[in-house]
Amino acid sequence: MIPKTMKAVVLTGPTAPEDVRLTEVPVPKVRPGWVLVKVRAFGLNHSEGLLRLGEIRADYIQKPIIPGIECVGEIACPSDSGWAAGQRVAALMGGMGRCFHGSYAEYALLPVSHVFPVNSSLPWAQLAAVPETCFTAWGSLFACLRLKPRDTLLVRGGTCALGLAAIRIAKALGCCVIATTHRERKLPLLNEADRAVLDSGALAGTFSGVTKALELVGPKTLSDTLRCVETGGVVCSTGILGGVFTLEGFDPIKDIPNGVYLTGFFSNNPTRESMDAMFAFLKKHRLRPGIGARFRFDDIAAACKALDSGTAEGKIVVELDGEGSFYDPG
Ligand SMILES: NC(=O)c1ccc[n+]([C@@H]2O[C@H](COP(=O)([O-])OP(=O)(O)OC[C@H]3O[C@@H](n4cnc5c(N)ncnc54)[C@H](OP(=O)(O)O)[C@@H]3O)[C@@H](O)[C@H]2O)c1
Repeated sequence: MIPKTMKAVVLTGPTAPEDVRLTEVPVPKVRPGWVLVKVRAFGLNHSEGLLRLGEIRADYIQKPIIPGIECVGEIACPSDSGWAAGQRVAALMGGMGRCFHGSYAEYALLPVSHVFPVNSSLPWAQLAAVPETCFTAWGSLFACLRLKPRDTLLVRGGTCALGLAAIRIAKALGCCVIATTHRERKLPLLNEADRAVLDSGALAGTFSGVTKALELVGPKTLSDTLRCVETGGVVCSTGILGGVFTLEGFDPIKDIPNGVYLTGFFSNNPTRESMDAMFAFLKKHRLRPGIGARFRFDDIAAACKALDSGTAEGKIVVELDGEGSFYDPG
């Protein structure tokens, strides 16, 4: 039985984490091409912090908006999708939590094109750590970097959820992995990599033999990362942790070394094929997504605080019917 109202986070403007609240709003009405998902859990993402703290002012953001770019749950009302009620699904991106209401809610009305059936028996909290983070790691490593077991991969900004997932996937493939953090105290977090390096901001000349690089700090360090790979190497720019969003004064002739290739990944358009392939890889290699902190929905303000402060050591997940939270801010 679908209730008439639900708890959700509704944002109207820039909001500090401690001001994030649950309010009672109507459960959305189903329409053709969209399905109603009962949200069981959702992961938190760096981009949701950016939205909440400032991007929400932009014209292209629907206001008020229920944020949240991903979730896992069950089909509550299948509409014309052909799926059965109760089907386990994962949903992500395509404007979720920006152009239409997202996942910080008990129910989410989502376009069929961005909802994917999943046949995984992982508990909800673990499954919630997968969609956006593992899909982005997967797409960056395979679609863009064409990662092979013989590669030596540099993950710049390795302690974010995406970086930790990428390290785990690359190690499962058999690669040698070098990962960086800009905080000395976070070096132990990179223990699944072959080498953990403290990032001073200037790493060119530090390594030899790096064939692929996943840039998660972004334009702030991209020119330097391009100088960390060998001739024939590829750099994929996927993150913007450094807070610099575009390349000012970038001179491609001089800034991209001869024979080095630059690519980028945007997770906005997952397909059924790529999501299935990503889940199959995780299953084949028995990879369990790491969780840095887990919160109950009632503790959403604390979850947002952990996101903004960068204190959680890995993916932050929020469980709608969770039994309890674990979070050690250190
Ligand atoms: N291209 C795409 O489609 C796509 C998809 C998903 C995510 N992303 C991007 O990928 C990045 C990671 O996302 P996420 O959701 O995984 O992040 P997250 O888990 O929220 O991670 C943020 C972490 O990164 C660390 N960090 C912050 N600034 C840093 C810097 N300058 N250098 C190194 N580490 C820094 C923070 O801790 P410390 O500061 O304490 O180290 C924090 O723990 C973000 O920039 C996100 O926007 C892109």
